Amino acid sequence: MTRFGILTSGGDCPGLNAVIRGAVLKGETVHGQQFFGFRDGWRGLIENDVMPLDRSSVRGLSHEGGTILGTSRVGPYSEPNGGIDAVRRTIADLSLDGVIAIGGEGTASASKRLHGEGVNIVGVPKTIDNDLDATDYTFGFDTAVEIATEAIDRLRTTGNSHKRCMVLEVMGRHAGWIALYSGIAGGAHAILIPEQPESLDQICAWVSSVQNRGRSPMVVVAEGFRLPDMDEAHSTKGLDGFNRPRLGGIAEVLAPMIESRTGIETRATVLGHIQRGGSPTGFDRVLATRLGMAVTDMVADRDWGKMVALRGTDIVRVAFDEALAAHKSVPMDQYQEVRIIFG
Ligand code: F6P
Repeated sequence: MTRFGILTSGGDCPGLNAVIRGAVLKGETVHGQQFFGFRDGWRGLIENDVMPLDRSSVRGLSHEGGTILGTSRVGPYSEPNGGIDAVRRTIADLSLDGVIAIGGEGTASASKRLHGEGVNIVGVPKTIDNDLDATDYTFGFDTAVEIATEAIDRLRTTGNSHKRCMVLEVMGRHAGWIALYSGIAGGAHAILIPEQPESLDQICAWVSSVQNRGRSPMVVVAEGFRLPDMDEAHSTKGLDGFNRPRLGGIAEVLAPMIESRTGIETRATVLGHIQRGGSPTGFDRVLATRLGMAVTDMVADRDWGKMVALRGTDIVRVAFDEALAAHKSVPMDQYQEVRIIFG
């Protein structure tokens, strides 16, 4: 019987539990594998903090949000008690054949480095932001879009009642996928993404033209969007080194600017972690389960240094090197296609 450790790292994501369930069920049944879950991501691996995982511990898990293992933003090399020796020690203590790391870009680059140092490790890509180039979709994205779309639908009715402009901020630090997809689905009048700076004049022109037609403007903005002339006075560095708008979210910066420029009463809503919590959609459950099952084949083949990914409708294997080579931004032609119907 082969033995594997599983961890979930970085921001959580609807579908993590479905991956764990898919891996444990197929791994046990088909490959005779045994699994141990590291608590709180890399911390559990560094400190040998584990829980055994078997059929009974993953029963009925695919619809549950969050991760039963817990997660953190700790990296294997970032902690004073971490590093390759701590990782090797835990792997040896538990007699593991390998490690399955479920996470985003940071997890994949840490995994790549560990693999370079001789650790048997594979990955499963995860982020609600959908900005990993190696895979067509990441689980969690569809759920986030669904929640953001519902928020737009709800904001629209209250916006209409009060004849207000509503500005909804969704997640997406570097890429505007959630904003673009939910904005299209919800029929937003303007979608603002990090990949494409838009001027305040342009945003206000869209907003005013909507109001002139007797409608209430709906603006969807990704958290990473900045006006071209927005200076650092509007930002503050978080613990993760990412510049965040000082006044809460970017929506809260934009709303008063739109209101004073257009004279239209404007309200901001920051959707925040609501879009990352709760049950995954059917699409995300299926994708996550397929990835979890596929990763057990990969470790059975001892095909280390790779992650499973979705290409078209197939689950494929992609080397960490290739997976990390590029970031998946919203393509400008896709954005421009939608931009012509703004306003
Ligand atoms: O990377 C996923 C993500 O959800 C981003 O969209 C967002 O900026 C970030 O995580 C929020 O992270 P935290 O939960 O640490 O505030």
